[in-house]
Amino acid sequence: MQSFINEVDFFKGNDPRDLLEQYGSPLYVYNEDIIRGNLRRLEGLITKYPYTTNYSMKANSNLSLLKIALEEGLNCDAMSEGEIRLLQKAGYPNDRIFYVPNNVSEEELSFAVENNIMTSLDSIDQLELYGKINRGGRCAVRLNPGVGAGHHDKVITAGKNTKFAITDDQLDELFLVADKYDLKIAGINQHIGSLFMDPAPFLQAVTNLLEMAKRFDKLDFIDFGGGYGVPYHKVSEDERSFDFDSFEKEFEKLLDKFVSEAGYTPLFKTEPGRYAFCEGGVLLGSVNAVKYNAGRKFAGTDIGMNILARPTLYGSWHDIEVIRDGKVVLDNRENITVTGNICESGDIIANDRELPLIKTGDIVCVLDAGAYGYAMASNYNCRLRPAEVLIESQGNVRVIRRRDTFEDLFRNFEV
Ligand code: LLP
Repeated sequence: MQSFINEVDFFKGNDPRDLLEQYGSPLYVYNEDIIRGNLRRLEGLITKYPYTTNYSMKANSNLSLLKIALEEGLNCDAMSEGEIRLLQKAGYPNDRIFYVPNNVSEEELSFAVENNIMTSLDSIDQLELYGKINRGGRCAVRLNPGVGAGHHDKVITAGKNTKFAITDDQLDELFLVADKYDLKIAGINQHIGSLFMDPAPFLQAVTNLLEMAKRFDKLDFIDFGGGYGVPYHKVSEDERSFDFDSFEKEFEKLLDKFVSEAGYTPLFKTEPGRYAFCEGGVLLGSVNAVKYNAGRKFAGTDIGMNILARPTLYGSWHDIEVIRDGKVVLDNRENITVTGNICESGDIIANDRELPLIKTGDIVCVLDAGAYGYAMASNYNCRLRPAEVLIESQGNVRVIRRRDTFEDLFRNFEV
């Protein structure tokens, strides 16, 4: 693919220059049609059995986007009291929120109990604490299926090298604690990690979790977590999308086997985050300077690591398109390093990358920025977090979060 933004008509006739002029640079821009399409794909993942998708809102917690996910029929999982409160504000009823925390305080667990929100406990200690707070209650437990997968060690959340979940050899203890507090284990969940394009590890983990499920009394639900990958190299390498069709067939075979062996059909769930909003969001920024050092060319933009942390944090790749005079530039390729405006040498969006020749005054468009983009942005270097705008189906532009102001930045100081 030569240009994603041209191919999908991302801006629907809006000129990126006008968007930056009006809402400030840098700017997160979302495309409603792409988002709704991806949400529907997730929602229809399993058709043969009772199934729900919990959108894992940590990937993007914009209030308007949460409302769109609700309109499309998704439930949500939350990681913290703040996420629960935001989901409530977006209109999610408590019985459509699944709370999947780790290492939380008694106060935070009590908040979930008081709100009647199904909660999954991630360790025996947290199960014990839950039992003390809500004796005789219903809850879930997060299990480690022994297999992990993900785009970086830092986001693999099952297997041996992780803080998450309860392992096979702790199940006896788990049942003892549940009995002690008369807890009903209504469901189990797992999450093996973030971003896989090859479904094999996920399917292995499904197999393992379903084996573990047989040790429990009849469960109301089994949740297999998220992690479905997005092709971050679609422009640079023609990378294809995650193949949901063949995945669904393999997935369903494993569910068939469980249903026939266990003799009952629980509600099945998955909890994707990234897939929901990643491709429907791009990040526009301005090239403020171009320079050389030791023969290497740098394009200096206003997209710092505080605006998009993924490249600095994980060495993640995001395809970049260059826009000049309102149009995508495709020719005159050269090697260039695209950086931000933060005071660290690691503040790099793309390292020594072959891109169309970049000039001062150009606009860069970072693709696949809709997940773990704004959600992980900060005010490092006292920089303002950008606005977020949504391009609606008809091409109207709606501000869904205003840009920070300096007053926002200084609000909490006490002198
Ligand atoms: N469920 C649980 C319990 C999770 O911890 C996560 C992600 C998900 C679901 C959703 O996973 P997804 O479908 O988005 O892969 N900041 C990193 C990703 C961290 C993922 C954390 N947990 C990144 O930018 O790549």
